[in-house]
Amino acid sequence: MSEQKAVADLTPDEAAQELAVLATEIAKHDAAYHQNDAPIVSDAEYDQLRKRNEAIEAAFPSLIRDDSPTKRVGFAIADGFKKVQHRVPMLSLGNAFSDDDLADFVDRAQRFFSKDAGLELAFTAEPKIDGLSASLRYENGVFVQGATRGDGAEGEDITENLKTIKDIPQKLVGDDVPEVFEVRGEVYMSHADFEALNASLEAEGKQTYVNPRNTAAGSLRQLDPNITAKRNLRFFAYAWGDNSALPGETQMDVVDAFARWGFKTNPLMKRVSTVEEMVTHHTLIGEQRAELGYDIDGVVFKLDRLDLQARWGFVARAPRWAIAFKFPAEKATTILEDIEIQVGRTGALTPVAKLKPVTVGGVVVSNATLHNEDEIERKGVMIGDTVTIQRAGDVIPQVLGPVLEKRPSDARAFVFPTHCPICNSPAEREINEKTGKLDAVRRCTGELICPEQAVNQLKHFVSRDALDIDGLGSKQVAAFYDEGRIKFAADIFTLKERDAESFKKLKDQEGWGSTSVRKLFDAIDDRRSPELDKFIFALGIRHVGSTTAAMFAKNFGRFETWMQACVDAGNGDAAARESLLAIDGIGETVVQSVVGFFANEQNREAIDALLAQVKPQTYEVASADESPVAGKTVVFTGSLEQMSRSEAKAMAERLGAKVSGSVSSKTDLLVAGPGAGSKLKKAQDLGVETTDENGWFELIGQSPS
Ligand code: IVH
Repeated sequence: MSEQKAVADLTPDEAAQELAVLATEIAKHDAAYHQNDAPIVSDAEYDQLRKRNEAIEAAFPSLIRDDSPTKRVGFAIADGFKKVQHRVPMLSLGNAFSDDDLADFVDRAQRFFSKDAGLELAFTAEPKIDGLSASLRYENGVFVQGATRGDGAEGEDITENLKTIKDIPQKLVGDDVPEVFEVRGEVYMSHADFEALNASLEAEGKQTYVNPRNTAAGSLRQLDPNITAKRNLRFFAYAWGDNSALPGETQMDVVDAFARWGFKTNPLMKRVSTVEEMVTHHTLIGEQRAELGYDIDGVVFKLDRLDLQARWGFVARAPRWAIAFKFPAEKATTILEDIEIQVGRTGALTPVAKLKPVTVGGVVVSNATLHNEDEIERKGVMIGDTVTIQRAGDVIPQVLGPVLEKRPSDARAFVFPTHCPICNSPAEREINEKTGKLDAVRRCTGELICPEQAVNQLKHFVSRDALDIDGLGSKQVAAFYDEGRIKFAADIFTLKERDAESFKKLKDQEGWGSTSVRKLFDAIDDRRSPELDKFIFALGIRHVGSTTAAMFAKNFGRFETWMQACVDAGNGDAAARESLLAIDGIGETVVQSVVGFFANEQNREAIDALLAQVKPQTYEVASADESPVAGKTVVFTGSLEQMSRSEAKAMAERLGAKVSGSVSSKTDLLVAGPGAGSKLKKAQDLGVETTDENGWFELIGQSPS
């Protein structure tokens, strides 16, 4: 990757430009991976792109794009849902960021229609709801199909999930309902429902969601509509697609018809004509933003007359006749009362601003991140200062800087500790191997003797992508740690045994009862043979995220083999080190981290204790003479019925095959499900061996699970 500017050094223009490039780039990789099954970059490189995108978005929240990768429902659902071709594409909107941009928009309209003497242009103004758009097809007034936006041309069929949303009528009412009509609008979740859901997830020991939009997305992509039904999603109708007739001549007419037919339409929608009126309504909606009870991120203006919309037309993927005037990220000023140091799972010391509570965008904020000691210096904030803070979407509030005119005479500089405030071990800044520069982050060197690192490691151990034990979430782990029930990961698995002998039984503790305790112990027992990749990830080794953990699992197959390679590498065995580095996508930083982890006596003891309790599964790595497909290039095509596409890919890779998305003379085998088309033909033309799913299972000597 080319030399990158630090996010903090980017100008807004550079940030906007880079976000645009990243959106296209990430979308391309998503499509390559999920739709064509032919990734162009390694998972690690892909993760880098996403991280960079998230970091820029966090620093420039007002520049977050509608097509941002963080906003997309993602192609991950492609395996579970049918595709729907949109008969009329689902478009995006151009943006305005200032009154001037809005005036330009109106000016463009006036110039376009300048020949129409005496024409008075009117626009509708309505909140831009921060959710996910959906298209609902009604035939003879009956809801027949619902789809996500997808890439605008093709979405996913989520009819059954949409049917569970109360705001979406199954049947339209009224005598002017056209034979065919696709209503479009936004699926969203209210703040109240979001908070209630998170509270109950937390109580059940499950991972919580970051914001209402992600929750709505997660709830819509459930393969089981019963789960969607419990989420209380809502819907505002504001646009349309394919139709046999329109119930009016203006935007406002059609939306009024939606309301008559049984939809919820936004009460803040209004007809406006001059730039002044538009700006006033934007301000008015902005002022109500915090009290609406759901997230909005701007105001959408649309030319009201549909005939004029048709004449003005479209550019690329957005209508010329509409624009979204975004709100700036929500800001407020308050007093910085103190700076506290938080110690993370890997020992990173993060300064957290303790603020005099202030409401920002409907949310009371009393903490904000200050990132690291260099940031405190760069921003020049002192304790006692009045500071400006900013909140946007899921991004943790940030401190932007001090209001210098208000600095009190007793304001004091914060001295960053050189020792961990929890365990008093030295806290150090490492030299980054690659750049030779001092790391921005100072870390506690106490590792597991540091109670804060220990408890955060435990929380990570049970998290969703790690061991994911039902009924044992962050809250329960923290309580068990404080009560001394669990100190190390291994203790989770001896909890039941020790509880039987304890005087202070878990079932007698607040929030627990015989049933919930029994369920918890069962859930723990269920996880005694975790998947190898999840187990490796659960260990919480620095630089080993789930993708890297999966690479190790895939390449080493057994936990012990991998651990031995790490230990040997640490003892100077060059071949062992090479076996780690040989994995595509794994570099020096990761190798150093895993080697260091296993060189640490304490970690080794913790792992030994853990391995006495759990037996990670082996990840089948077949050698060439064991597997009939080892070393072969396999292509899967058509709709597979006994396994998902990703399952098929994983299975083939486990058996040592290489999976490709396209057929060429290098292809050794094509596995074709029903509906296979051009790839099957090409394989036959090239004389490539072909088989169906049953043939595949026969070949590899397995039966479908
Ligand atoms: S109109 C042809 N109206 O914004 C115009 N979009 O950037 C189509 N959105 O994907 C969109 N509230 O998810 C429109 N009141 C509103 C909206 C709205 C939210 C979203 C929608 C769309 C995106 C476009």
